[in-house]
Amino acid sequence: MSEAVFPVPAEVAARALVDDAKYQEMYAKSVNDPEGFWGEHGKRIDWIKPFTKVKNTSYDYDNVSIKWFEDGTLNVSANCVDRHLAERGDQIAIIWEGDDPSEHKNITYKELHGEVCRFANVLKEQGVKKGDRVTIYMPMIPEAAYAMLACARVGAVHSIVFGGFSPDSLAQRIEGCSSRCVITADEGLRGGRKVPLKANVDKACEKAPVDSVIMVKRTGGDVDFVEGRDVWYHEAAAKVADTCEPEEMNAEDPLFILYTSGSTGQPKGVLHTSGGYLTYASMTHQYVFDYHDGDVYWCTADVGWVTGHSYIVYGPLANGATTLMFEGVPTYPSPSRFWEVCDKHKVNIFYTAPTAIRALMGGGDEHVTKTDRSSLRLLGSVGEPINPEAWNWYYNVVGEKRCPIVDTWWQTETGGILISPLPGATDLKPGSATRPFFGVQPAIVDAEGKVLEGATEGNLVITDSWPGQMRTVYGDHDRFVQTYFATYKGYYFTGDGCRRDADGYYWITGRVDDVINVSGHRMGTAEVESALVAHPKVSEAAVVGYPHDIKGQGIYAYVTLMEGEEPTEELKKELVKHVRAEIGPIASPDLIQFAPGLPKTRSGKIMRRILRKIAEDSFDSLGDTSTLADPAVVDDLIDNRQNKA
Ligand code: PRX
Repeated sequence: MSEAVFPVPAEVAARALVDDAKYQEMYAKSVNDPEGFWGEHGKRIDWIKPFTKVKNTSYDYDNVSIKWFEDGTLNVSANCVDRHLAERGDQIAIIWEGDDPSEHKNITYKELHGEVCRFANVLKEQGVKKGDRVTIYMPMIPEAAYAMLACARVGAVHSIVFGGFSPDSLAQRIEGCSSRCVITADEGLRGGRKVPLKANVDKACEKAPVDSVIMVKRTGGDVDFVEGRDVWYHEAAAKVADTCEPEEMNAEDPLFILYTSGSTGQPKGVLHTSGGYLTYASMTHQYVFDYHDGDVYWCTADVGWVTGHSYIVYGPLANGATTLMFEGVPTYPSPSRFWEVCDKHKVNIFYTAPTAIRALMGGGDEHVTKTDRSSLRLLGSVGEPINPEAWNWYYNVVGEKRCPIVDTWWQTETGGILISPLPGATDLKPGSATRPFFGVQPAIVDAEGKVLEGATEGNLVITDSWPGQMRTVYGDHDRFVQTYFATYKGYYFTGDGCRRDADGYYWITGRVDDVINVSGHRMGTAEVESALVAHPKVSEAAVVGYPHDIKGQGIYAYVTLMEGEEPTEELKKELVKHVRAEIGPIASPDLIQFAPGLPKTRSGKIMRRILRKIAEDSFDSLGDTSTLADPAVVDDLIDNRQNKA
């Protein structure tokens, strides 16, 4: 908790789209008259057939249904590309910065149009039609954005799988939405290291076969080529036209699926649709980042996550912005890389994650201060709560006390930012996401679902729909209802804990379910557990998060071995390797503790509260352990804890 308040700087207020009075006025209208408000702001995008209905949404448990602009038609790629051609065809749409600092490329809107059309024509040649699902497993190269927009152009639904997921995870996601086509590259390049993307696709397709694999040449590395299935993108693209009519889509036609982790079971396919999503992504991008024509904007996320979807590709391009896409990592070739890229491309708005800030903070100020950064005007943070220490470093050292920080809270499910400062309107408090965006009505409830008023703490719900909200879990509407609308009837439950202070500012305190946030990547503890028990030597596993200096949370696994198995350091390494193979490197356990027994109630339920405390190394307040079937296991767990101070 921090008491410091940072008022809106006068220069920021002078050029900002909205000041506090305007925010208050627009916010009031957005919640008192959502039809009127969104009816007006829905016009920020181009419709083929304009909508006449604005909002048709129900959070009623027996009938959860979310539709926005439901009788309008549009094409998302035409909104992100074609409509800018007349006015800004020669403006740079995408600045691509390669992993190696010697490589970069500028792509104008005119060029983007040709590239997207070509990619769309290649998809058509491969038989991809409106409504088909296409899995994208790509490095951060411009072709990833072309592929997304090409899917949108032909009406196909893309499902991007982050390149850090294993072949098994990829197979599961290909199968989950029955994709017929995968788009990939020979290899990815990150921090000077190669990522075997195509080899992973080949392995995944043994389990989940597809009709075609379109492969972009990135490194020129050796890859297998499956005749009849595989296509080199550059060969196919050379044979097709660089124009392609965009498909007319309904506002509620799916745009993309993105798999994300929950507290139970396998990842869910979060489904976003076209009209409401694009309206919301573009509006939040403009207002939260106070985007003005001519600004250079950089979001360091990967397109494999929702942040890359909404704030590298769809939001910025819908606004005719110049968006920077970065292939590499913050520390390669040196910890100055982010700031060197800011200087090289004169970046004005910079949006990254607390985990990156903490890692760079640990490397020392000189890597920052030796760069210029005078182009920077605004900084952003996303993905997890930002601790005041990291906030202050970001503000003082990176932004030289000039640049406001927008701490943006949102989720894969929300499509866009829900709680965030607006640079010209909101005084900042380090660690607080501050106030809701237009149309967003947060509430804090207690465990029983009673709405708490005033300064308080509890669970964060949203009481009514906004246009960017997910519509369903792909292929499983009941799971959507059960996950988000069953805990507190009548509300969307976020899964986050939250405090509201006397000024009405929101402070997200972290997940209250069995989801952990590792370096801003969302991980279900159940997924890691099921990967562990799939190992032949493991009988039982329980996974919890624990505080980690750089990652925010680390993965702590308690593992019970099969009868007769030896608990060795070698086996720990083998288990880490096994989880990496099952889920991907992002799920590697940080600490493994062999546990002869896990604390269970007499009915057999694992008491995670106790495991969390021990993992946090704070076991003097374990609470009541008398209901445990065998209280003695706790002493053993404490004695052998892996996170001793
Ligand atoms: O716990 C919250 C945390 O990240 C979760 C959503 O993760 P994901 O769907 O992967 O999306 C991340 C990028 C939007 C949330 O439930 N989270 C995200 N942003 C913040 C945050 N926690 C605190 N402050 C934030 N700014």
